Amino acid sequence: MCGIIARVGDGSAIDPLLTGLENLEYRGYDSAGVAVQNGSGIDVQKRSGKVADLKRSIDDVPLEGAVGIGHTRWSTHGPPTDENAHPHTDHVGDIAVVHNGIIENHATLKAELAETGHEFTSETDTEVIPHLIQSFIDDGMDTEPAFRRAIDELEGSYAVAAMRSGEHVLYAARQGSPLVVGIEDDGFFLASDVPAFLEYTDTVVYLEDGDVVIVDGNGIEYTDLAGNQIDRERETVEWDPEQAGKGEYEHFMLKEIHEQPTSIAQAIEGRIDPGRGSIDLEGFEPGTFENVDAVQFVACGTSYHAALYGSTALNQAGISSTALLANEYSVSAPPIDDNTLVVAVTQSGETADTLNALRSADAAGAKTLTVTNVIGSTASRVADETLLIRAGPEIGVAATKTFSSQAVMLVLLANRITADITGEPRTDLRSLLEALNSMPARIETLLERSQAESVARRYGNSQSYFFIGRGLGYSVALEGALKFKEITYEHAEGFASGELKHGPLALVTPDTPLFAVFTGTEDEKTMKNAAEAQTRGSPVIALCPPDHEATEMADEHLEIPETDPALAGLLANVQLQLVSYYAADQLGRPIDKPRNLAKSVTVE
Ligand code: M6R
Repeated sequence: MCGIIARVGDGSAIDPLLTGLENLEYRGYDSAGVAVQNGSGIDVQKRSGKVADLKRSIDDVPLEGAVGIGHTRWSTHGPPTDENAHPHTDHVGDIAVVHNGIIENHATLKAELAETGHEFTSETDTEVIPHLIQSFIDDGMDTEPAFRRAIDELEGSYAVAAMRSGEHVLYAARQGSPLVVGIEDDGFFLASDVPAFLEYTDTVVYLEDGDVVIVDGNGIEYTDLAGNQIDRERETVEWDPEQAGKGEYEHFMLKEIHEQPTSIAQAIEGRIDPGRGSIDLEGFEPGTFENVDAVQFVACGTSYHAALYGSTALNQAGISSTALLANEYSVSAPPIDDNTLVVAVTQSGETADTLNALRSADAAGAKTLTVTNVIGSTASRVADETLLIRAGPEIGVAATKTFSSQAVMLVLLANRITADITGEPRTDLRSLLEALNSMPARIETLLERSQAESVARRYGNSQSYFFIGRGLGYSVALEGALKFKEITYEHAEGFASGELKHGPLALVTPDTPLFAVFTGTEDEKTMKNAAEAQTRGSPVIALCPPDHEATEMADEHLEIPETDPALAGLLANVQLQLVSYYAADQLGRPIDKPRNLAKSVTVE
């Protein structure tokens, strides 16, 4: 939700800033801007629209400077206009700031500053920050103390990068929004996420809440707000820039769908031994979960569907478990005690709703664990333990490969928890692990043979799209519908198969195709439910193996290879991802950047 990038060092900052903004655009794409030191002052170029629009403006009116900041925006305060785009400056243009997060007390600060003559030109909460810094400079402070003092006044969440005219220095602070330092031989980056600068360096330092950094071309100082020095460790990220690029694919989403054989292989590597029938989750010795008496999953969106998958797997194994929408957690959390395990599922590790739920579970005394894709993310810092899904960077706003990796990790976790609590692994664990080992190859086959494109073309102009499934297939039906609506902008809904007859059947017409997910569990019931819709006109598209009975009743068939029922839904989901992709493509939608959305939702 908003991407910030800043660079100080040798050479021009413009290309690294614009590359960084392109790489961060998945975080928000309402407007974009940059500010650079031009030798005698600060030049700002910003506008509504995409980074490509900003680049065109910069081609017309070139910018130069070795120190600069940039921003790509997902609007919270004020619509996506040129004025509301970042960077923001104070009234004399001496200080420029980019910000990700929400300044909750901005109205009070704005009113106080306005009383002392500060004039504001935008509707954003951010604009108070440069004015505040400037007001302390006007009071006689140097830049660094003025920056610290201004940060101290802010309430809410922020990652902020600021610079002052005439200085070869960047000032940055983090509280509740991600900020990472990239270290080159001849300069430094500050950014919301690593892909921003991966073409330039893989040496990073993840900042923590409360950190303030001061960086010039020669060095960087890590401090707390009061100015005390702190240690922050350098790390090397293993993602390479090519992984973060589109490669031969037209869209990141299609590339990431096709990466699932690899991402799942990475998720399970070294963690399963089908021969011995064992699961080895690093950091979780056998017995870790033996005292757990209930498991609560918290997550949002696609991650919630993965959480529901994990929770269903646990319930099916006889372990009490619930999946809760993180944004509902504060008003509907079930009771917690020391033996409750709360698992936050979050690709980014930065989703505000999920972090809030995690923090409140932690405060209530639960054991906490996060299943995430991002090393060093806030969720992994807040939770007691972290399980990485190792999916690699996911840039498409629509989550695809991270869903399947999350679900696979949750199936493994569910089996470990069950074995720890009951003292017995499930009797057919070996065959489940063998099936898991074959997942990458099965997905390869599915991708090669998929008829999803022709199904999408045949039904792509329908009025509404329904998705049904049972048990593990229900979470896949919900995910199929979310993906479809998110990138096609068409109405799509997922239901538990048995719920159709309790209301939704009233919507069924020949113009409402129904995708039915068969996982090998109570399939005859799902077939009956699909037939009830078909009788009333819905074309039925069955997702099942080739010799499944449903192929006879269905109007269309999307093949999923035979596998363990615990994994069949994940194969069906790959087909549904492709259907959504091709339907959106046919409609000419901006697939990787659907309107009104952002990859990482860091506001409540
Ligand atoms: O980073 P997270 O997994 O916490 O994000 C949660 C949701 O915002 C996210 O899954 C969203 O629903 C997807 N981008 C939808 O494809």
